[in-house]
Amino acid sequence: MKTIVVLNSKGGVGKSNITRHLAVAAEMENAGAAVLCDTDPQSSLADWWNARPSETPPLAVVGVTEFSSKQPVLASRFHYLFFDTAAADAEQYAEVLRSADLIVIPVVPSPDDVRSLNRLTLPVVKKSGRPFIFVLSKARPGTQLLISTMGALSEHGVVCQTIIQQREGYAKAAYAGSTMLEDEPTGKGAAEIRELWDFVKSRIDEKTNLSKKAKGLLHV
Ligand SMILES: Nc1ncnc2c1ncn2[C@@H]1O[C@H](COP(=O)(O)OP(=O)(O)OP(=O)(O)O)[C@@H](O)[C@H]1O
Ligand SMILES: [Mg+2]
Repeated sequence: MKTIVVLNSKGGVGKSNITRHLAVAAEMENAGAAVLCDTDPQSSLADWWNARPSETPPLAVVGVTEFSSKQPVLASRFHYLFFDTAAADAEQYAEVLRSADLIVIPVVPSPDDVRSLNRLTLPVVKKSGRPFIFVLSKARPGTQLLISTMGALSEHGVVCQTIIQQREGYAKAAYAGSTMLEDEPTGKGAAEIRELWDFVKSRIDEKTNLSKKAKGLLHV
């Protein structure tokens, strides 16, 4: 099972929105069974899931401290786990981050958000030693703010070139328990989500192939 953790200590940046869209994208692209994980039963991910007409992807409500012990059970049933996090001290997710195959960091294009990221989230992510990517979220294309934020982030790590734009459809889907992939499958929102999923998957596959290669190395 591959574990994708969506993290940013700042609130309202689109963590839950991206987590659920990635999970549904993985299922729709036939990548394998996906499960959502939420550490807070009162969070927006659980609200979305409760409103959802579809039974999949299932939601596992697991406490942060019990995650390591529950992970093998989930791994026996699912190919992908999408872990949503709360706007809180990132340090509390240190153990979860260490088991991540990829950490996805949604960032709203704004100098304040980049400063907060540098101060609160990035140090914990870097300490985990796990691969991570930045994803511009709730963004308006073509703005100077977007361009300068992408430039600033690229000094710290990989920036996904697909941006998640500010779209009313995401907010509507949040209420309906759906996704843009289901509501407007031929729309631009669905297309950007599919692109984001392809990028996430390619980053995970790349790391997996590299470590397989390393295992096959003969030291003579
Ligand atoms: N790309 C987007 N376009 C428009 N609205 C969005 C987008 N992404 C998220 N939203 C809306 O913005 C609000 C915050 O999004 P979301 O709950 O995903 O953020 P979050 O980072 O998980 O927040 P929290 O830190 O509180 O958990 C929600 O109302 C959501 O529907
Ligand atoms: Mg959230």
